[in-house]
Amino acid sequence: MSSPQKLSFTFFLLCSSILLTVRVAITAGIRHHGQHRQAVKKLFVFGDSYVDTGNNRKSLGSSWKDPYGITFPGKPAGRFSDGRVFTDFLGSWRKYSPKKLKYGMNFAFGGTGVFDTSAPYPNMTTQIDFFRQLVNENLFSAYYVKTSVALVSLAGNDYAAYLARGGSPQGLQTFITQVVNQLALDIQRIHSLGVRKIAVTALEPLGCLPSRTVTNGFQQCNSTFNQGVSFHNLLLQQGLAKLNNQIHDHRPSPFMILDLYNAFLSAFKQKGAHSGSAAFSNPLKPCCMGVNQNYSCGNVDAKGKKMYTVCQDPKSAFFWDSVHPTQAGWNAVSLALQPSIQELHST
Ligand SMILES: *[C@@H]1O[C@H](CO)[C@@H](O)[C@H](O)[C@H]1NC(C)=O
Ligand SMILES: *[C@@H]1O[C@H](CO)[C@@H](O)[C@H](O)[C@H]1NC(C)=O
Ligand SMILES: *[C@@H]1O[C@H](CO)[C@@H](O)[C@H](O)[C@H]1NC(C)=O
Repeated sequence: MSSPQKLSFTFFLLCSSILLTVRVAITAGIRHHGQHRQAVKKLFVFGDSYVDTGNNRKSLGSSWKDPYGITFPGKPAGRFSDGRVFTDFLGSWRKYSPKKLKYGMNFAFGGTGVFDTSAPYPNMTTQIDFFRQLVNENLFSAYYVKTSVALVSLAGNDYAAYLARGGSPQGLQTFITQVVNQLALDIQRIHSLGVRKIAVTALEPLGCLPSRTVTNGFQQCNSTFNQGVSFHNLLLQQGLAKLNNQIHDHRPSPFMILDLYNAFLSAFKQKGAHSGSAAFSNPLKPCCMGVNQNYSCGNVDAKGKKMYTVCQDPKSAFFWDSVHPTQAGWNAVSLALQPSIQELHST
């Protein structure tokens, strides 16, 4: 068990102060990869709160506060959910064991985007810079990197930041193009560092997030937002197809989409129809929410009084808070994405 410690220490020396908060999930597979070829798929993760498993600082943000983490691990642990998030289902697809969560490293920070947002954390460019630094320092061997897969999540913080800055609806189309172009550059960089398979999330239906549907009592998705999302996803799809065509020396294609848009919609429809899988009575209604619009999940007042409510059974809710799925929600999404996830693992 000396290898993880040594690695953490090297990591400590290598990285700038903000990176010190990165939780390093180290693999015993580094030493053993010669004997276990392809046995364990290593995963490098970039992006935001949909895949962050605890990198945000404890003093900031909701993910380290009650009631986050009540389902797993039983207390707040930095995940933006009641329990496991997308990464957990992806990385441990074959044999699901919370103890052996991850082989690889997670560079994702909740609240971030490809561009700077209001979140005080590294944007995607900087996250990839951290990865490049570790590759250049040979902390990850070429073999290690080339037998890994990367997961890149872009859940929409760039767009939230755009709207918060007062960006105009007219300018949105141009901005969407800029975001997708930057994302394409980012994944090309990950590929050029040696990762052969890179899965990128399509944007989830932003118009269905509780933060958007609260105004209609969580009854219906906002189609205006979802149209923008569809444009983003179309550009992304075209962009990845172009990149895959340009790269002739790798088969199968390096870039693939994990279609969160349709996976969310298909999970919403599970109203008890599937035995054994989650049934969401009202899929748009979050489990945890503020007592009024001035508060959100996890908020307390000056006296420490809870200013939020939590549903009885988080398993019956798709959304945990105003933007993040529950563990049950992520489970349903992962089931809907099973063919893509298997492709990722079999590469
Ligand atoms: C990402 O952050 C770095 C460091 O703050 C900054 O220099 C860079 O311009 C940002 N990149 C983008 C694409 O916004
Ligand atoms: C969708 O959201 C926009 C912006 O908040 C709002 O102007 C519009 O009325 C909403 N549309 C529907 C159908 O709720
Ligand atoms: C929310 O906060 C604003 C400003 O402090 C206040 O005027 C309003 O009454 C509050 N709303 C509720 C529902 O408490």
